[in-house]
Amino acid sequence: MKRQHQTLVIGIGNQKGGVGKTTMTIQLAYALAEQGHKVLIIDLDVNAGSTKHLGIDPRAYLGTFEVLLGDEDPLTAIVTHEDEGHSLPESLHLLTGSRKLEELEERLRAKKSKFDDTPLHDVLKPVIKKLRGYYDFIFLDTPPSAPLPIVAAYKAADGFLLVAIPEGLAIQGLQEALHDIEEVRKYGNPDLQLVGLAIGAVDARTRLSRELIAYVDKEFKEYVLKPVIQRSTIIPTAQTQQKSIFQTHPDHAITQCFRDMAQEFKAKIARFFDRQTFDEVDHG
Ligand SMILES: Nc1ncnc2c1ncn2[C@@H]1O[C@H](COP(=O)(O)OP(=O)(O)OP(=O)(O)O)[C@@H](O)[C@H]1O
Ligand SMILES: [Mg+2]
Repeated sequence: MKRQHQTLVIGIGNQKGGVGKTTMTIQLAYALAEQGHKVLIIDLDVNAGSTKHLGIDPRAYLGTFEVLLGDEDPLTAIVTHEDEGHSLPESLHLLTGSRKLEELEERLRAKKSKFDDTPLHDVLKPVIKKLRGYYDFIFLDTPPSAPLPIVAAYKAADGFLLVAIPEGLAIQGLQEALHDIEEVRKYGNPDLQLVGLAIGAVDARTRLSRELIAYVDKEFKEYVLKPVIQRSTIIPTAQTQQKSIFQTHPDHAITQCFRDMAQEFKAKIARFFDRQTFDEVDHG
C-alpha cells in the first residue's frame, strides 16, 4: 500500500442504538469504493456490526481491540480482499470489531504507565496518525452505548456524519449528538466538523417519517444528504446474508440512491473542508 491519499476521517454517529449507523457505513463505503476511492472501516462496536455485515467472523482476526491496546500494528491487522473467506471489494478495507472491546477501558487502565498522562479517550489518535495517507476515507462505525469508543471517535475524527431513521427517539438523538460535537470542539478537537446528516428507512406514509424529515429540513438544512433513503426490505435481507446491497441488488433503485448520496457526501466534504472535489484526485 502506498501513502498517497489525503485522508478524511469520518465518525458515523448518533449514540442511539439501531438508527442505521452500520447500514450507512457499509453502503456508503461500498458506494465510495465503487466510485474509485480507497476506504477503511474501523469497527469500534462490541457487537461488531460492520464486521458481521461484511461477512467476517469477529473472532477470526485481531482487530480494533488489539490495535487500540497497542498490541498490534493497524496496517498489519487490516482485513482486505486478499484475505480468504469473504468478498471485500479491492478498495474497501476493515479493522474488525469484537466482543473484546467490552474490556477495552479496563485493559487500557491496567496497561497505562503512571507516568503517562494521555487521556484514555485519545487512544484512537495515534492509530489514525499511522493510517493517514493510505485511504481517501476512514469511517468509524461507533457503538450505541460505550462511552470510551464513542468519545475516542469524536476526538480522532476530522468530521462527523450523523445518521437517523424515523423512530421514537430520533430527534432527541440528533440533538444530543449536535451537543456532543459542540462539546468536543471545546475540549480537544476544535476542528471537528459536522459534515452531513444521512436519513435512512423513510416511509413517507408514516407520521414519524414526516416529522423527522420536517425537523431535519428545518434544523439541519444545509447538512441533509439527498436523497434520503427509503425503507426497503433489501437492506435487512442483505444484512442477513452478510452482504452489501451493492452485491445482492446492484441495480436496485435504493442502491442507486446510495451512489447518489455518496456523490452528495463528497460535495459536502469539498465544501466544509475547502478541498478539491474528490473526483479530481489522482489515484494513479
Ligand atoms: N433503508 C432501510 N430500510 C429498511 N431497514 C433499514 C434501513 N436502514 C436501516 N434499516 C434497519 O434498521 C436496523 C438498524 O440498522 P443498523 O444496524 O444499521 O443500526 P445501528 O445504528 O448500527 O445499530 P446499533 O446501534 O445496534 O449498532 C437494521 O435492522 C437495519 O436492517
Ligand atoms: Mg451498528
